Amino acid sequence: MSNIFARATSINHDFIRRLIKPGDRAVDATVGNGHDTLFLANLVGNAGKVYGFDIQKKAIEKIKILLSEHNLANRVSLILDGHENIEKHVQHSVKAIMFNLGYLPGGEHGIITREETTIIALKKSLSLLTSDGVLSVVVYSGHQGGEREKQAVEVFFKAIPKSEFHVVKIHHLNRLESSPCIILAQRNN
Ligand SMILES: C[S@@+](CC[C@H](N)C(=O)[O-])C[C@H]1O[C@@H](n2cnc3c(N)ncnc32)[C@H](O)[C@@H]1O
Repeated sequence: MSNIFARATSINHDFIRRLIKPGDRAVDATVGNGHDTLFLANLVGNAGKVYGFDIQKKAIEKIKILLSEHNLANRVSLILDGHENIEKHVQHSVKAIMFNLGYLPGGEHGIITREETTIIALKKSLSLLTSDGVLSVVVYSGHQGGEREKQAVEVFFKAIPKSEFHVVKIHHLNRLESSPCIILAQRNN
């Protein structure tokens, strides 16, 4: 495999791929164009389950079609609701929860994830993870409001006790400060 560090999203996928086994449950907290939902649906197998959240009907409709085309619709529950309400829809513990913050590429740039709801959702997500479960967040700060959200997300993760979670941040050092970074937290079992 070449260029393994080129894209934040693919670095993130490499970590999640190592963790998820057939039969696991996972959450895509920001479906968007559906790349992460599709990725997770392939990993969990027929016995597993993926929950996909987005507040945009357009995103949910798009992934519905994509999943049917890949014959994966039976593995995914799509939820047209904010991830800040995650506990209303996900009652079991899950192996991984993925967030990809910011706006939908190719969509309405005014519809973005917001600091207030993101932090509520991250807090709730931690409590839903299995004993070795991972929470992953790809953070963008180049758009309006993005820097504020990034700072809030970092404050949130820095405050998690190390006895409970291992938390790492991955960032391209030779790119702009506003280039996407990844934050991963794994429960310390
Ligand atoms: C950067 S995009 C996600 C990209 C996606 N992972 C992909 O593979 O294309 C962010 C998405 O989060 C959604 N979003 C914004 N606020 C949300 C919320 N409170 N709950 C769930 N989704 C939200 C937006 O509608 C948008 O589709």
